[in-house]
Amino acid sequence: MPHKTPIQKLLPLNLDTGALLDWYDASARTLPWRVGPAARGGGMRPDPYRVWLSEVMLQQTTVAAVVEYYLHFTRRWPSVGDLAEAPLDDVLGAWAGLGYYARARNLHACARAVATRLGGVFPQSSAELMTLPGIGPYTAAAIAAICHDEKVPVLDGNVERVLARVLALNVPVRDAKPQLCAALSTRVPERAGDFAQAMMDLGATLCAPRRALCDRCPLSGGCRAFGAGRPLDFPVKPTRAQRPTRHGHAFVIVNNDGAVWLRQRPDKGLLASMTEVPGSTWDETPTPPAGPLAADWRPAGHVTHVFTHFRLELDVWAARSDEAPASEGWWASPREVARAALPSLYRKVLAVAGVGQDKAQKKTAGHKDRRSLN
Ligand code: ADE
Repeated sequence: MPHKTPIQKLLPLNLDTGALLDWYDASARTLPWRVGPAARGGGMRPDPYRVWLSEVMLQQTTVAAVVEYYLHFTRRWPSVGDLAEAPLDDVLGAWAGLGYYARARNLHACARAVATRLGGVFPQSSAELMTLPGIGPYTAAAIAAICHDEKVPVLDGNVERVLARVLALNVPVRDAKPQLCAALSTRVPERAGDFAQAMMDLGATLCAPRRALCDRCPLSGGCRAFGAGRPLDFPVKPTRAQRPTRHGHAFVIVNNDGAVWLRQRPDKGLLASMTEVPGSTWDETPTPPAGPLAADWRPAGHVTHVFTHFRLELDVWAARSDEAPASEGWWASPREVARAALPSLYRKVLAVAGVGQDKAQKKTAGHKDRRSLN
């Protein structure tokens, strides 16, 4: 039984919210979906559609990467009604590159629900927002706080890091989320939306993962990690879990036009709905390869990929064929491959097979004998 550090008794959370809001008033980031503190103080409120859209996108990637997608979406679909009326394929196409298509499907389903059931108006409370497709506790809290100043705790990765440092939290954040949420909920001021965004901005700028600019931080007076002179020691890292290994095969078929055969993963489970090349199941013991069609299969190399709960060892096989496998899928030109929602695992697989050349991967790929598969 692995030893687990008991979570410390969380002291009252010492957050100088006044100093934080003063800092935000002076230093808020300018973001296209944001109503800044001055305009907000003058009574302006952000559009829930835009806040919702940005929050869903921000669950995928960084602020810098989201801005371009956000601007494209809002130019093309300025209101939730416009997005609801768009064909799903157009929305999925515009989402390509952000990854994880299930979120784009939910985005569209949510837009439809708001447009048809609610007359195009997002509910105000976090509890009601959570009844909509794809809106979980975090997104609901963020929208309700940012748009309507609901006094709810908004805890994203940046805010978790700030709290872990202020509290000098002695366990990994993932083991203390309910406690952090409870502690934060006691400190939310009237300006709940500005407070939520100030905490996020602080985590993204001064209190960053590998850099803590404590001399400029409005919370340093009550920060236990700063007091102990070791801000970067928090959040403490989870101990590395023992990961089992699974084994499998991936099959890269390239036709004479240079297009690659891709298919969509099932809409449930790991990497749900994302794009992949055909492959075997991933098993605890290695299985013999069985290609999706009869061809002259060449062993192209090997890929190791670490998921949260297991390590995957994939043998990559490549073949040239104009024939398509019997199962569903499509030919993707090199340009389409570059734009496809391919998880990084399959980018590695294609690189090893020499598609979308990644020289570093190619060099490390092992080579085996030529063999024919059925
Ligand atoms: N990250 C996620 N949501 C954000 C927001 N509303 N402002 C800044 N950073 C964010």
